[in-house]
Amino acid sequence: MAEAILECRNLRKEFGGLVAVNDVSLRVERGRVHSIIGPNGAGKTTLMNLISGIYKPTRGEVLFKGQPITHLPLHRRAHLGIGRSFQITNIFPNLTVLENVRLAVQARSKVNFNMLRRAYSYTDFIAEAMHAIHQVGLTPVASTLASALPHGGKRKLELAILLAGAPELLILDEPTAGVASEQVREMIENLSHIRAQGDRTIIIVEHNMNLVMNVSDYITVMHLGSVLAEGTPAEIAANKAVQSAYLGELYSDVMDKAAGGAHE
Ligand SMILES: Nc1ncnc2c1ncn2[C@@H]1O[C@H](COP(=O)(O)OP(=O)(O)OP(=O)(O)O)[C@@H](O)[C@H]1O
Ligand SMILES: [Mg+2]
Repeated sequence: MAEAILECRNLRKEFGGLVAVNDVSLRVERGRVHSIIGPNGAGKTTLMNLISGIYKPTRGEVLFKGQPITHLPLHRRAHLGIGRSFQITNIFPNLTVLENVRLAVQARSKVNFNMLRRAYSYTDFIAEAMHAIHQVGLTPVASTLASALPHGGKRKLELAILLAGAPELLILDEPTAGVASEQVREMIENLSHIRAQGDRTIIIVEHNMNLVMNVSDYITVMHLGSVLAEGTPAEIAANKAVQSAYLGELYSDVMDKAAGGAHE
């Protein structure tokens, strides 16, 4: 079994009488794209909040690279290498795409001793920023103001900013929410490319089954706060419990294709 970069052990979060996350155990292996799917209110975002440190669990444990991080605040987890998208709020609208990403590279250099020692120059920052911009397909609009990007472009910029921070673990909560279908296709291509490079671990919470089935190495299905099923995209697509609990007819086309071994 490959190394687990992240582990949740019997993680539980109650809001008053509501059990949002019900004793969830999860193992995310390094280098994988691991998707979390499930109906609205299943507890997916709450689980991401427990992993990134926005919430403390009612009980249970979170381990990052084998070390317990359950009680560390968000910024400490970020320094350890957990990067989380916060929708589009951390984009500076009056800066260009390139400037937004360069700032993220520079912010990392402040906390990374090796980068300082190597005396990173301005040109290095730009080069690294352009690499992240290329990875999300925004090279043609690198000098465009962020505010002028369409919604889908802003989501890609958000991803580039996250990549520029070079976290070992990226958490994306619904990267295609509100994104037009053409842009979803591009997002799938970009994530497939990033996955193919093999050096990133990414957790994706997503409702778009086309994206999930195409970019995931592994899928965890949540339902009513609990883990309902886990497996490869083909296994999940063929899982009868998953189909009846959630996916079923809604996504039958994509699921049939995936169950037929479309993924790898
Ligand atoms: N801060 C909070 N206070 C009270 N209840 C909350 C809070 N955050 C989430 N919940 C509740 O916990 C449950 C799980 O919510 P969560 O947002 O984690 O679901 P989700 O799987 O991300 O859903 P969606 O697919 O709609 O984003 C829901 O019943 C929700 O109303
Ligand atoms: Mg959610």
